[in-house]
Amino acid sequence: VRPERYTYQFMESHDYFTVSVLPEEAKKVTALCGSKSGRDVDKVKACGLTVRWGAGDAPFFDEAEWVLVCRKLYAQDMDPACVLGEGEILPFYTPGQGGWHRIYVGQVVEAYQK
Ligand SMILES: Cc1cc2nc3c(=O)[nH]c(=O)nc-3n(C[C@H](O)[C@H](O)[C@H](O)COP(=O)(O)O)c2cc1C
Repeated sequence: VRPERYTYQFMESHDYFTVSVLPEEAKKVTALCGSKSGRDVDKVKACGLTVRWGAGDAPFFDEAEWVLVCRKLYAQDMDPACVLGEGEILPFYTPGQGGWHRIYVGQVVEAYQK
């Protein structure tokens, strides 16, 4: 998660996070959620998503095909010095694209599948 994201502050302030994988048909939802910031748009409302809560009161979406609820174990900022090769990773970090991602490792404490 890049530090500029609205999501980042929640990743930092909470002990649990979730991964919701939506079905193929929900492309409009993933397109909106992947391009608009929660600072500007209520994405849950705009997409008609239903929020449910897992361990640690971490929110996920009822519309998801599968969900992982994770307890944060480790966080580390990606380091330019650790990039292997040049072609695939570095283009994500050209000026104006935002900071280097923080990687989170979580223990899966709950998993749901439809
Ligand atoms: C397919 C896809 C994958 C993405 N992966 C990431 C990612 O791993 N980390 C990240 O910070 N942003 C990623 N983004 C961009 C964010 O989803 C986008 O900037 C979003 O508006 C952030 O919302 P927020 O400000 O509410 O957190 C991705 C976008 C798409 C379309």
